[in-house]
Amino acid sequence: MAASSSLANFAKRLQGKVALITGGASGIGETTARLFSRNGAKVVIADIQTDLGHSVAKEISSESGEKVSFINCNVTNESDVENAVNKAVSLYGKLDIVYNNAGITGNYDTNILAIDSEDVKKVLDVNVYGAFLGAKHAARVMIPRKKGCILFTSSIASVTNGGMPQAYTASKHAVVGLTKNLAVELGKYGIRVNSISPAGVPTPMGASVLGIGVKDLQERWYSIANLKETMLEGNDIAQAAMYLASDDAQYVSGTNLVVDGGFCLTSNLVSVARK
Ligand SMILES: NC(=O)c1ccc[n+]([C@@H]2O[C@H](COP(=O)([O-])OP(=O)(O)OC[C@H]3O[C@@H](n4cnc5c(N)ncnc54)[C@H](O)[C@@H]3O)[C@@H](O)[C@H]2O)c1
Repeated sequence: MAASSSLANFAKRLQGKVALITGGASGIGETTARLFSRNGAKVVIADIQTDLGHSVAKEISSESGEKVSFINCNVTNESDVENAVNKAVSLYGKLDIVYNNAGITGNYDTNILAIDSEDVKKVLDVNVYGAFLGAKHAARVMIPRKKGCILFTSSIASVTNGGMPQAYTASKHAVVGLTKNLAVELGKYGIRVNSISPAGVPTPMGASVLGIGVKDLQERWYSIANLKETMLEGNDIAQAAMYLASDDAQYVSGTNLVVDGGFCLTSNLVSVARK
């Protein structure tokens, strides 16, 4: 009994850490909250979906036995972000990990001539300004401790032409730029900053982009994926986040970790040209 419980503790890679995850009520954020909690982290979920956020926090907490809290937080509102960070610190006395994951795709129209200015502003507001605010308030509490980990969810839209909307693609490039700049600025305080760029993950957002169900999205993605005999899941992104947030990645900073099974490296151009 003692041996198996110490083995379980040994396997908990985020034991004693405190994490704030934006967009944690659904999709990648929810799956990450679940994995972090199972690995011993105290998690605060910050999202605009209040009822869902509360029920997800309760469910994860009863599953993992760790405290999981929810706070209503619109990442585009600075006082919401400030409160979310302060809540994590007041509950647990510190904040080790801030995962800026909340994001939206905006209108799914890739035609530059059809672009709706308000939609562009909204996408940049959530995906870029929201990420800035998350980083600012994370840094505020991490700098005095001279340690911490800031993560962002970018997208393969930051490294390849995925046919995603222009504003979304621009926003995800901006997130990678922010990651690199911050990694340099905050390195002297022992704070690591990294981003993760997922391919097509079966989440409500992923499915809505294609106007299909979540299961159909997974199959559609598999049909074009480079890596076969496995399916991309939200948990693959959560595992990447856990690695970057853990002490295993203690010297990893300024990285954009692309989780796409090699998809962005594939191009049919040469074989097409040879035909
Ligand atoms: N699903 C994919 O295929 C995929 C691929 C690459 C990148 N991403 C990125 O992953 C991140 C998570 O997306 P997902 O697929 O899990 O989508 P999702 O829609 O399942 O989850 C996004 C969450 O963000 C929350 N959110 C939206 N606007 C917010 C705001 N202003 N303030 C606080 N929370 C807000 C939503 O309520 C939702 O809970 C996004 O940044 C997205 O761009 C997703």
